[in-house]
Amino acid sequence: MRAGPSGLALLAIVVPATILAAVGYVSLRQWGLSTELLFREQARDMAAMAAGKLDMVMRQTDYQLLGGLQTALLAPGDRARALESWLGGASLVRSLVLVDRAGRVLYPETPETPDGLLAARLVAEVGAEFWDLGGHRDVVVDDLVVVTAILRSREGAPVLGALVRDVGELRRQVLEKALGGLQAPTIVAVVDHADRPIYSGAPLDRADRVATVSLPGGLSNWRVALYQPAGTSPRDSVRRQVMIFTTALGLLLVVIVAGIVATLRVMRRESEMARLKADFVANVSHDLKTPLSVIRMFGETLEMGRVTDEVTRQEYYRVITRESERLSRLIENVLDFSRIEGGRRRYDMLPTAVEPLVRETIEAFSYPLAQQGFKVELSVAPDLPEVPMDADAVAQALANLVDNAIKYSVERKAIAVAVLAEGPWLCLSVADQGIGIPRQEQERIFEKFYRVGRSETQGRRGSGVGLALVRHVVEAHRGRVTVDSRPGAGSRFTLWLPLAHA
Ligand SMILES: Nc1ncnc2c1ncn2[C@@H]1O[C@H](COP(=O)(O)OP(=O)(O)OP(=O)(O)O)[C@@H](O)[C@H]1O
Ligand SMILES: [Mg+2]
Repeated sequence: MRAGPSGLALLAIVVPATILAAVGYVSLRQWGLSTELLFREQARDMAAMAAGKLDMVMRQTDYQLLGGLQTALLAPGDRARALESWLGGASLVRSLVLVDRAGRVLYPETPETPDGLLAARLVAEVGAEFWDLGGHRDVVVDDLVVVTAILRSREGAPVLGALVRDVGELRRQVLEKALGGLQAPTIVAVVDHADRPIYSGAPLDRADRVATVSLPGGLSNWRVALYQPAGTSPRDSVRRQVMIFTTALGLLLVVIVAGIVATLRVMRRESEMARLKADFVANVSHDLKTPLSVIRMFGETLEMGRVTDEVTRQEYYRVITRESERLSRLIENVLDFSRIEGGRRRYDMLPTAVEPLVRETIEAFSYPLAQQGFKVELSVAPDLPEVPMDADAVAQALANLVDNAIKYSVERKAIAVAVLAEGPWLCLSVADQGIGIPRQEQERIFEKFYRVGRSETQGRRGSGVGLALVRHVVEAHRGRVTVDSRPGAGSRFTLWLPLAHA
């Protein structure tokens, strides 16, 4: 494998992908930050608007209340009665306290009550300036928000009026009306001086506060707060986007890496195939040359009339015939292989008697078998039916198995051929006690041009197409070929052909 070009290809893909990832990530972050900024600005605007509206409404409410109170104060007749009747109608007021400048509590008339104590605190809180200038404002006393204002008594003296609002009523009558109409994906809430929510447009659990704004007039120490419901903040959506982007990029990288790996595999296969093809050409040429030179040598010897002995002459003729037979087999194999490769191989399926076909095929090898001292055992099951097959093709496949068995046997020269029916299959098996095939090679030997490691096959020439041809033939018959082999013990190849047409 050439590491250079593939390394370069890897770089050419991985570098742009990494840059893309970095740029994508940075721009996503930028986008996220600016979205968040924009969102916060919008939230602050929204809160300011709500605060303005709330301030206006509260002011109005206070004016109305204080106006009513002033009227009640100035009304002729019993002051306490007038105040009581006003209080009865003002549902927004929880309690009322009136104090004169000297600190005397004018209302309620029983100063020992909590309201009376409150009055004492109020007088302490409110400075002389307020008495002189008048007006109204909120004062916080012991966690209570008190609306305080300077009013006038019937006698013309200033009176400090203090109203404690009924928050429940205020929420129902004022806040809901003023803020309920605000439509926004965010939640508008009002919090008191201690940051406790007094009112909110929707439940606040798990919501994030995004902005807080004081009321513009500084009248009240309530504030408007804007909340973001859980899971809807722009930060979440940015996080989601980043996750989607990262996942997509990860997938992309996986695909790219898988593509590179696949390409490298194909490249490696291609170069191996090129090597195998070169071997094939060398092997075939050699295989053609050997029988040809034998034929030529024996032919020339006979032609020159050097052989006078008739027995030797006969022997020479046999050698010539055998070698030319081998040559034809070889050429037939290669031609058939090229026909298969070109998709031009045709099969004529005809019912065929199996036994004669097997006997004839082995017969053709009788000379090399006898010469090399092979023990041949043939067992054919009786009563085999005729089987639909292309007789020439099956004979050729079987011949290839026998040829291999001869070629790859070294010490124990014994071949056993068996023919039998097993279920719907006709089994033709050829077993030898030769060099055997390592397990990891047993699948690959059926590939074209493939030959087991050179050391094993050294000295045994071959083109490496024999078993590829065998596999093609059996598959054309809708059968298969199996191998059972152990290195050093021998091999058994079995052809499985269907007994009848499928
Ligand atoms: N009976 C066997 N015993 C041991 N090895 C075998 C046997 N049959 C096949 N092989 C191994 O499988 C390889 C492929 O066999 P195949 O018949 O396809 O090619 P070949 O015999 O080398 O060449 P040819 O095309 O001339 O038959 C052989 O090179 C050999 O290594
Ligand atoms: Mg072979």
